[in-house]
Amino acid sequence: MTEKDFLPESYENLPTKGKFTWKAPSNIALVKYWGKKPVQIPANPSISFTLDACATTTSVTFEKKGKAGDFSFDLLFDGKPKEDFKPKIHTFFERVQAYLPFLKGYHFIIETSNSFPHSSGIASSASGMAALSLCLLDMERGMVPDVNQEYFNTKASFLARLGSGSACRSIEGPLIEFGVHDHIPGSSNLYGIQYPFKVDGIFKTFQDTILLVHKGEKQVSSTVGHQLMHGHPYAGNRFQQALQNMDALKPIFANGDLDGFIKLVESEALTLHAMMMTSMPYFMLMKPDTLAIIHKIWSFREATQVPVCFTLDAGANVHLLYPDHVKQTVHQFIDEELAMHCENGHYIHDRVGLGAKKINS
Ligand code: DP6
Repeated sequence: MTEKDFLPESYENLPTKGKFTWKAPSNIALVKYWGKKPVQIPANPSISFTLDACATTTSVTFEKKGKAGDFSFDLLFDGKPKEDFKPKIHTFFERVQAYLPFLKGYHFIIETSNSFPHSSGIASSASGMAALSLCLLDMERGMVPDVNQEYFNTKASFLARLGSGSACRSIEGPLIEFGVHDHIPGSSNLYGIQYPFKVDGIFKTFQDTILLVHKGEKQVSSTVGHQLMHGHPYAGNRFQQALQNMDALKPIFANGDLDGFIKLVESEALTLHAMMMTSMPYFMLMKPDTLAIIHKIWSFREATQVPVCFTLDAGANVHLLYPDHVKQTVHQFIDEELAMHCENGHYIHDRVGLGAKKINS
């Protein structure tokens, strides 16, 4: 599908007021999206596990305005006004306006809250933009008869991408691919798709424990980090490597090859951070405790042969990935050896999930 397919034809029955609520999960990338072109076009394909427990719930209450003017909305985070989120939402409204042309005719109250603790250092833009897109698209569904579920999910992913690239992977689950790859049928730079190849059942049991090494704001936002891939000396090779890793994942997923999975996922995480450390200006988001955890995971795996590995997002926190059948041993390892490296000993047990859900409001 192209951008044109997401432009609505005409609306019937514009509602005067109403409310929609959606809960959308976060996701964790296995092959990372790092580098993009305007507007929100990824430089390479990526793939992620959709999560379950870490999620954003957003309600959008809308009321028709007397006269259409500029965008008009209030934003509440955990029940309190949140002015500093407003510019991001405003940019999002501008980007999606052509695809949701009713936006300027309404006043919106956007109420949002996260299931994970406030300022845990977990990115909420993916789940937040996914939940907001779903609420707005649900509103459109009432004005356009006969929208099928597949189109609804694809357009939700398309809109979410315009808010935050990785958000397009937070509409469905359990394994979502984003970005054109010649060997992946249906892949697109405009929205995420269900990974179309065989995936061994073991990957659907995967657990993700997020070790909260550093809960504060990160020094460099993802948006700035993406920009630093322009003119980066290793960018071309990195984008090639991501294409190759997507190919390499195919037999890994099909055969349940945990060794292959571990090598590829850890290499992707370290490459992401290597790109940060070799940008100009250079920066480093890992902390001493991030490294301590990584070394302990390697020693533990060597000693026990338990298939547990790590990945990192754009921050200091460590995502520990492992199949359900080793959960007990890994939880013991976390409590005895890893929790001491987390801020206030905090971590979050999450798992692979199936995507966003509508909440009756
Ligand atoms: C390291 O989706 O947060 O988490 O499109 O600028 O909002 P924007 O960036 P964002 O970048 C995600 C970066 C990452 C890797 C990934 O999730 O693939």
